[in-house]
Amino acid sequence: MCGIFGYVGTKKNAPKIVLAGLKQLEYRGYDSWGVAAVETLKSNSKDQKSKTSKNTIVVKKKIGKIGSADVSDMPESDIAFGHTRWATHGGVTDVNAHPHLDCSGKIAIIHNGIVENYEELRKNLLKKGHKFLSETDTEVAVHLIEEYAKHTLFSKAVQKAFNEMEGLNAFIVLHADEHKFVAVRNGSPLVVGFGDGENFLASDASALLPHTRQVHFLEDDQMAIVSEKGVLIFNAKNGDHINPIKQHLDWSESAVVKGKFPYFMLKEIYEQPGMLADITVESRSAAEKLAETIKKADKTYIVACGSAGYVGIAASYMMSIVAKYQAIPVVASEFAYHVPFLTSKSVVLALSQSGETMDTLDAVKKARKKGAIITALVNSLGSTLYREAHQKILVGAGPEKAVCSTKAVTGKLAHLVLLSYALAGKGREGEEVLKKTVRAVKLLLTPKNTKRILSLAKMLSKKEHIYMIGRGISYATALEAALKVKEISYMHGEGFAAGELKHGVIALIEKGTPCVAFLPNDETYNDNLAGAMEIKARGGYIIGVSHKPNDVFDFYIPVSDAGVATVIPNIIVSQLLAYYLAIERGYDPDMPRNLAKSVTVK
Ligand code: G6P
Repeated sequence: MCGIFGYVGTKKNAPKIVLAGLKQLEYRGYDSWGVAAVETLKSNSKDQKSKTSKNTIVVKKKIGKIGSADVSDMPESDIAFGHTRWATHGGVTDVNAHPHLDCSGKIAIIHNGIVENYEELRKNLLKKGHKFLSETDTEVAVHLIEEYAKHTLFSKAVQKAFNEMEGLNAFIVLHADEHKFVAVRNGSPLVVGFGDGENFLASDASALLPHTRQVHFLEDDQMAIVSEKGVLIFNAKNGDHINPIKQHLDWSESAVVKGKFPYFMLKEIYEQPGMLADITVESRSAAEKLAETIKKADKTYIVACGSAGYVGIAASYMMSIVAKYQAIPVVASEFAYHVPFLTSKSVVLALSQSGETMDTLDAVKKARKKGAIITALVNSLGSTLYREAHQKILVGAGPEKAVCSTKAVTGKLAHLVLLSYALAGKGREGEEVLKKTVRAVKLLLTPKNTKRILSLAKMLSKKEHIYMIGRGISYATALEAALKVKEISYMHGEGFAAGELKHGVIALIEKGTPCVAFLPNDETYNDNLAGAMEIKARGGYIIGVSHKPNDVFDFYIPVSDAGVATVIPNIIVSQLLAYYLAIERGYDPDMPRNLAKSVTVK
């Protein structure tokens, strides 16, 4: 969701640096953007007061994508920050875009999250004469800071206002007369980047890679005062000084540029064989440790959202098939209904690419309160979920920039293959299965096969609906496949358990209705084929994804058998199909409308 980037240093092109930072954050999803910079008008006066009064904040903000917009019309400045907004309070308008200013125009703010008690605060501020220009909760924050700054130091005013605001928020505040940012967080992510004579703030560490690899992830209720000279960190509740915990980002910069690929999504699809090979050789022992924890549990819940939620469903089948272990997959936003059954011996396994998905974090919080053991499979180092879990595995897919999740999905699945085999006491076999998977994925990504999928997308691009069916673990594949198609091509896709066909779904089938049937070499093959036949008998067009062709298929996509892990190449088929459908239908697969990469609100 909203992106934050701030620069303070000695370079005079801060607005430009900030705009480039915002472009790195576009993938999070946004509907407007804005930059603010301090303009210092030179004064010869020796009088300190008249000198500082020459500092003004210049703001440029607009709805829509940044595209080829530039900030060359903004003044030279060595301190600036910017924001990409995903509207929550107040419509998508230029005025509602961040940054927001106080009445004096001396204080500017950018914000991620929701100030839950904003109405009450707004009423009080209106009584005190503050004038509001926007409909946002954010503007309340900047006026509250203005109010407190009348009587106290600027940083103290930010601290006081922050402690009065309810909700999960991250703010950066800038005062025209102080060459520094005051940043504070609770819930929404913020990371400080340490440079040489310059320092940075961002909502996402990957945006800092072109500038620095030394970072400190702000914890909840931490406040940072960031100037070109240094970074001071405090506890925002009691003001105690805190030493930053500097972490080194070891991602390569090539991970955040498209390189030879037209879109991040395609690049990320092609990164999967390498990532899967790395997980195969590096991750068995972490899976075995997690398996030890799970074995001691009275029950295990897998909680996640979106694609990660479908990974959770696939994992529950895998654990059942491979280890005869029952784990309960739950959509994180529905987890509250399972909370009464948690004990201190229960394990919650949270799955997430971003590690910031609010519903997943909320489920974890509830489970923590009941004393459950929190484990996590998470892709973003330093994310809230990563920090909060008692035991965690880093997925290792590297930064994922396309909004829809691809490599983080299959990366999580690969770890869960290892976990399932570890639960069965067959860790080595898990590695062998993954080796087979890497071969299957490489074969799938050969030009011959990708061209087949492209030709299918060309054929289907004008269709309104597409259905996906599968049984067992392929039910999860069908759900994820349909989600991918919906997310980026805006074609209506539905995934079904093939057994449900005759209970209603079949009424949707007409002559030529495309239906993808996932038919791996497992115990579901014959029953699932029967489902495909039922659809074909009603005129449906059957796209078979399988290790062997069949007369029932109108179109065949070969996927080599990789045992229980065939779910991985099968999902990659759907990633490619969705990608090509989006291209054929004229959409940008990296930035689907209305969606956000990191859903940090409920
Ligand atoms: C958003 C994204 C999805 C993603 C889901 C969960 O809705 O658009 O692609 O699957 O969030 O995200 P997470 O970061 O928790 O895996």
